[in-house]
Amino acid sequence: MRAFVTFLGCKVNQYETELIIEQLERAGIVVSSQPVDVDICVVNTCMVTNEAARQSRQLLRKLRRMNPDALVIATGCYPHLDALSIKDCGVDLVLGNREKKELVKHINEWFRNKEQKVLISQPDYEISEQVSSFLADRVRAYVKVQDGCDEYCTYCIVPLARGRKIRSKPTQVVIREVKNLVNSGYKEIVLTGVNLGRYGRDIDTSLAHLVRRLLNEVVEDFRIRLSSINVQDISAELIELFKNNEKLCPHLHIPIQSGSNKILKAMNRSYTVEQALALFERLRSLDPFFSITTDIIVGFPGETIGDFEETLALVKRAMFSRVHAFKYSDRPNTPASRMRHKVPPEEKDRRMKLLREIAEKVAADYRAASVGKIRTVLVEMNKDGVSYGYDQYYVRHEFVSLSTNVLAKVVVKKPNGAGVVSQVVSLEKSVVD
Ligand code: 5AD
Ligand code: SF4
Repeated sequence: MRAFVTFLGCKVNQYETELIIEQLERAGIVVSSQPVDVDICVVNTCMVTNEAARQSRQLLRKLRRMNPDALVIATGCYPHLDALSIKDCGVDLVLGNREKKELVKHINEWFRNKEQKVLISQPDYEISEQVSSFLADRVRAYVKVQDGCDEYCTYCIVPLARGRKIRSKPTQVVIREVKNLVNSGYKEIVLTGVNLGRYGRDIDTSLAHLVRRLLNEVVEDFRIRLSSINVQDISAELIELFKNNEKLCPHLHIPIQSGSNKILKAMNRSYTVEQALALFERLRSLDPFFSITTDIIVGFPGETIGDFEETLALVKRAMFSRVHAFKYSDRPNTPASRMRHKVPPEEKDRRMKLLREIAEKVAADYRAASVGKIRTVLVEMNKDGVSYGYDQYYVRHEFVSLSTNVLAKVVVKKPNGAGVVSQVVSLEKSVVD
């Protein structure tokens, strides 16, 4: 039996896609990298915005067309939003986030009676699963340490699919999982969660504590990166860990969403622009290059030109090294979807374009400032004699090297497109692959 598995959305979904692949492989199913001549297609869907939902439906329809006789499964977040519209995309099995943990059981059942089914249970399940490899990316592994979100951002539908209860993976389990991945050659571990900053609240610990233990107990040559974390969850203890710690990448993804306090309030985000700027200053006092990437929503209901200009001003002031810009999208039954003063689509497009232009300029300045500096790059790929990889600040480098999956010290030579060109100074460790 052969299967094709793919996903949309965030790193958590990507991690869970790896779990799906491992389940299938353990059951003797061959996982193919192409959706041709397969018996099963699995799409791990997303629905955070209208666009993500549309892409999920489109992908399922396409896979159905390509594989008229295959078992087509939709799992992930979309089924929690609307099982019927996803079923209509030629899907045989619609499974929720909890159900994807027992995918093989559902597949076997389907092959017994070939009955179309929708199974979506409450997503508040405990998490203790572990992956042993990460196929999508051979040098960097994402490790999901937490699930669920107990905040009430007025635009966000994610808690519907992920649950409102914070669930954290026990520290010992995370340590074991990270050790296994590092021992099998992964040089960068990215800790992820639906709301990563809340890690540990349910099990009487914290993200800072988890990171400290990982830094102390996983002695091999590797580095840790943290994924998205909110302003209010970046504790003094966590910041301390970034001091003189080569193993912890000086990069945080801090979704700011808006540069207007009025809009932040309407979004029910529990920080102000001033608090965020003070935090950024603190991080940059540890390292002037400390990399801060962010998410911004443009065209939230009630966002005036003035509010939007405050966002542009913040992007410049905060010197974000990368901005993920989202057009506000009404999600069903969210408080924001009922708000008045919606921004017209053309205006959202205009603001989006302006934001992208400014964000790109700010990011280019950030990269240009690194010329002459030494960086540590994880070499991911070699093509035609050129190597590619990201440094600790999440800047993309290209340079001449010989091997992949090594942490290489390079010196930045010049900016280049969305990254920089650099030159190898030394390779820290020999080749592993
Ligand atoms: N509309 C637009 N963007 C959204 N995001 C979450 N919900 C919405 C929405 N309704 C964005 C936020 C979040 C990112 C993962 O998706 O910026 O940080
Ligand atoms: Fe998409 Fe959010 Fe679900 Fe991730 S948690 S897959 S971003 S809806």
